[in-house]
Amino acid sequence: MSLILGIESSCDETAAAVVRDGYEVLSSAVASQIAKHAAHGGVVPELAAREHLTALNPLLEEALRTAGVTMQEVDAVAVTQGPGLIPALLVGLNFAKGLALGYGKPLIAVNHFIAHIYAAFLESGHGVLENPESYPLLALVVSGGHTSLLLIAANGEARQLGCTLDDAAGEALDKAAKLLGLGYPGGPVMQKTAEGGDAGRFEFPRPLTGGAGKALAPEHRYDFSFSGVKTALLYHVRREAERNGGVFPESLLKDTVASYQEAVVDVLVRKTLQAARDFQVRGIVVSGGVACNAVLRERFRQQTPEGIRLHLAERRHCTDNAAMVAGCGWHFFRRGEFAGPDIDSFARLPQITRVPFV
Ligand code: KG4
Ligand code: ZN
Repeated sequence: MSLILGIESSCDETAAAVVRDGYEVLSSAVASQIAKHAAHGGVVPELAAREHLTALNPLLEEALRTAGVTMQEVDAVAVTQGPGLIPALLVGLNFAKGLALGYGKPLIAVNHFIAHIYAAFLESGHGVLENPESYPLLALVVSGGHTSLLLIAANGEARQLGCTLDDAAGEALDKAAKLLGLGYPGGPVMQKTAEGGDAGRFEFPRPLTGGAGKALAPEHRYDFSFSGVKTALLYHVRREAERNGGVFPESLLKDTVASYQEAVVDVLVRKTLQAARDFQVRGIVVSGGVACNAVLRERFRQQTPEGIRLHLAERRHCTDNAAMVAGCGWHFFRRGEFAGPDIDSFARLPQITRVPFV
C-alpha cells in the first residue's frame, strides 16, 4: 500500500491531496482564488503566486487530516512541474521540495496536462489502464489552457493528433463571458446563462470543420480554432444591440450564449468522434475544466459509439486539483522514477511522446 501526497499550483487553484495506490482518493483539498482574480477579469500571475504561498500549508493540513494520515506515513510527494504560470508553479514546486527534503520522502514531478487525462481514471480506472484491450485511447483535454487530442497506445506511446491553433476552449468561454459582462470564470456562468436558451437560434462558426464551403486542410483535421467564434460573437452583439435600440434583452442573451456554447461543444465533440473513428480507438477520455460542462458531457454520453468506452472525468476531478497529480505520480513511484532536488518548472507543454500511467 502506497500513499502519495499531491501538490498543485499551476494556475489559480491551490490544491493538496492524498491518493492511495494511484486510484483511491483519500482527500482532495482545493482552494480557489477566483474571487481574488475576478476583479481583473483573468488570472494575474503574481497575485496567484502570493495566494498559493499562504494557501498551501493550511491545505496540506486539511488534506492530511481528511485522509487520516500523517506526513510520516506518506510515501512520496508528487508535484505539478508544468505547464502553467511560472510564478504560480514555483511556489508549489518549492513547497513540495521542502516537504520531501524535510521528511526524507522522494519527490515526483508531474506534467499537469497528463494529470488532467489521468483524472478520468481516479476511483474508477483500476484495471482499465493495465488492460491492453482498453487501447488505443483517445484523450480530449479541454481546459482554460489546453484543447488537445492525444492518442495513447497500449505500450504507453502517445502522439498529439491536434491542438488549438489559438484560444483554448475554456479561454473562448471565458473571453465570451467577459465580452458579455457575465464575469469570470466564463465556463460555469455561460453554462448557467445558456440554460433554457435556444441553442439553434444563431449560427456561430465551426472553424476547421470544413463547413461553409471551406475545404479543410488535412493537416488541420484534428486541430481546433476558437478565436474566430469569439470575433463572430463580438459582431453579433454589436449588430443585435443596434437592432434592439442599444439594449440586449434577457431572452436574446440566453439564446446568444446557448448558441455560442453549442458552437464550441459541437466542434469538440465532432472532431473527437472523427479521430475516434479514424484511429479505431477503444476508449475516449474527456477531461479538463471544460469537461465539467453539462452540454458537453451529455453530448459525449449520447454520441460515443457502441464499442468505445467513454472515460468522462468526474466533475470534481475536471478542474484543477491535486488528486490527479498524486494519482499520476503513483505510477512514477512504483517504477522508482524520482525527481532531483534541482528540478525547475516549465511554462509550455512539451511534445508528449508517452504517458507515465501505462
Ligand atoms: O482545468 P482548469 O481548472 O484549469 C486549467 O488547467 O486551465 O480549467 C479551467 C477552465 C476555465 O476556462 C473555465 O471557464 C472552464 O474550465 N470551466 C467550464 C466549466 N467549468 C469550468 N467550462 C464550461 N462549462 C463549465 N461548467
Ligand atoms: Zn488544469
